This record gives sequence, C-alpha cells and structure tokens, in this order.
Amino acid sequence: MTKPSSSYSGMAGRQGIADKDLIDYRSDTVTQPSAGMREAMASARVGDDVYGEDPSLNLLEAQVAELLGKEAALFFPTGTMSNLAGLLSHCQRGEEVIVGDQYHIYRDEACGASVLGGIAMHPLQTDARGSITVEQLAAAIKPDDPHCAISRLLCLENTVGGVLQDQANIDALTDYAHQQGLLVHMDGARLLHAAVAQDISPARLVRNIDSVSLCLSKGMGLPLGSVLSGTKAFIQRAKRMRKLLGGGMRQAGIIGAAGLYALEHHIDRLADDHRRARTLAEGLAAIDGLTLDLSTIDTNMMFITPEPEDHTALRLFLADNGVLIGGQSPPAGWWFTWTSMMPPSPVPSIYSASITNNGPFIREVTLCNNYLPSGTTISMAGGIPARVVI
Ligand SMILES: Cc1ncc(COP(=O)(O)O)c(C=O)c1O
Repeated sequence: MTKPSSSYSGMAGRQGIADKDLIDYRSDTVTQPSAGMREAMASARVGDDVYGEDPSLNLLEAQVAELLGKEAALFFPTGTMSNLAGLLSHCQRGEEVIVGDQYHIYRDEACGASVLGGIAMHPLQTDARGSITVEQLAAAIKPDDPHCAISRLLCLENTVGGVLQDQANIDALTDYAHQQGLLVHMDGARLLHAAVAQDISPARLVRNIDSVSLCLSKGMGLPLGSVLSGTKAFIQRAKRMRKLLGGGMRQAGIIGAAGLYALEHHIDRLADDHRRARTLAEGLAAIDGLTLDLSTIDTNMMFITPEPEDHTALRLFLADNGVLIGGQSPPAGWWFTWTSMMPPSPVPSIYSASITNNGPFIREVTLCNNYLPSGTTISMAGGIPARVVI
C-alpha cells in the first residue's frame, strides 16, 4: 500500500482568493524578498564564484563564519545540499551518522548520505522536545568491531520543529561525542531563531560543534540559500563535495547580497515572529475544543494535530476561507502550520474562518507568524467563538 505523500504544495489560488488576500501559514519558506532585499540584489557586485571571485558571496561566507565562530564557510543553494555536503565531508563509505529520528537529515533529505555516500544512519528516538540524550548516544556508538559500521558523526538540530534545544544537553552531547572520537554536525536551519529567542550569540550555541548548516531561506526571506561552516580544511573538502553534487555556482552574489541584507536587517525581526506566534497560540489555546501545548512554542512554529480523518477537511475548509496551513501526513500523522514572511502586498485586517466540526477538531495547535502586520485579526467562529489579535 502506498501512503499518501506529505503535502507541501498547491493550496494557493483556491476558490479564486487572490494571493494578496491569503494568510499563508504553510511554512517560513513561502516568502517573498522584501523591497530592500530586491534592491540589494539588483545592485550586487558579482563575479564568478567557481573562480572564487564573487565579492558578495565571499563577504557573506566570511560574515556567517564570524557569526558562528568558525574558521570558514561555504554557500549552498539549499539546506539539504549543505547538510549532505557536510556529511560527505565528514564521513567515508561504511561509516555511520547517529541522528535524532525526527531530524530533517534523517527524515526529510531522501537519505542522501546513504544513497550517495554509503553512509549508514543510526536514528535515536527523540523526546517530545526533539532532544536526544547522552545515554542514548553512548548506547548507539559501535565498538571497534568488523561486524559494525564505524560511528563517525553525531548530527544535532536546533531548533527542532521550532522547539529550542537545551544548551546544556547540546554541550554535553558534543563533549561526549568528541571524547568518543566522533565529530558533531549541527543542522542549524533555524539556529538564528534559537539565538534570538534565548538572547545568546549564535557562536555560543554551536561552540565546539565541528560544522553547522544555517539556512537563510527560512524566516530570513531569501529566495534560496544556506551556508555551511567549519574549519578551513573541512570547508575545502565541502567545496569538492559541492562540485560533486553539481552545486558550483557562478554569479551567485546576487543571492549573496540578499543574504548580507538579511543578516543586517532581518535577524532582529525574528523576535517579532516569536512574539506573534506566542500571542496567537495563547489566543488559540483559550478556545474551547482546542488544546495546545504552549511549552513547545519557543520560536516561530505551531502545530495542529487533528484526528487523521479531519486533516483534509480542516485544511480545505481553512483554505476556502483564505487561510493556508501546511499538511504533512507520514510518518507521525501531523498536521502542521509554520510561519511565513508575508508578501509585501497589504494584508487584509480581518479573516473569518468557521470551523464547522463541533467536536474537539484540533488537539494541538501550533501556528506561527512572520512579518504579519501587528493588529491583524484572525477570528474563528461557528461554534468556536474566538478572536485572536496578533
Ligand atoms: C530543519 C531543516 N533542515 C534542513 C532543511 C532543508 O532545507 P532546504 O529546503 O533548503 O533544502 C529544512 C527545510 O525545511 C529544515 O526544516
């Protein structure tokens, strides 16, 4: 039997609702470059990056390396490619990555490291906050035995589904991995969210971690782009891997300039997203029939988990009322909604959505908001009297 695939796509334009009238909560990736970012891109100084001659990209890489306290950095078109090149640069065929079973590297990257690199993956069950423990790691590391894969790399993630990872635990996992001869990679797709939410420098969050992949296309407004960082020697290897994966680019400084713009103008704005996500979550949590674990709303994400049979009905219903939320079925049967940097067009101030199912339609709600003007109101009616102002 074929399970339904996760539905990332295709809700915009339903019922003839103009794009500008939609509130799009599907992801913090469904963003549009702001006017300032477009100007920065249009006037970017560029060169051929395969020759190492793109000044904007070189500057972006240097700035990210400094931000994360690493020696060097390398730009990639996507976070998936950046993670993959990182893993391929750390591990040889027959070696093993130990990784949380809910982490993107294990769940959502088509097993690239195994398919293309002959690298085994040992998943560890994450807890409700997306964390793994030193005890789990210790039990997973293989002995020096020809029957076993060679444990080489620990992969962490922060944030995990918007949830902050406990820094003492990250430090303990990193120290233990190093004591055991493993290297450590951090999928920091949303590391800047973690830094802003805790008011801790990004460099501190990844101190002693060998490599970090940071996405600039999530919540930061870039059309594309991730940056891998680590030692100079590691980045040299990663450059070879990027070429091998077909990711050498030419005048990529047009995107590099967008990255520089985002580093200067967008990091602080993440705090607005977090505040709005929490306000919205608190409002939704007060609705009869909705339950919501506010303890998991640390940054910009909220998750809704209705009964499986309600997934599609709820999503279509909200879409018909101009509210897009994400949907992902396997493996956990989750329905989720992520933040989105809204398009520059004005967002109407009032939305109505009637939830006609009178039962406790939604078990857990995680909504998030990014760049939605303050004062936007979402009202839900039809058996669930509620009004949430963010
Ligand atoms: C935690 C995490 N890591 C990595 C990625 C991969 O990024 P990309 O979509 O740019 O390949 C994503 C994408 O959503 C992500 O959420």
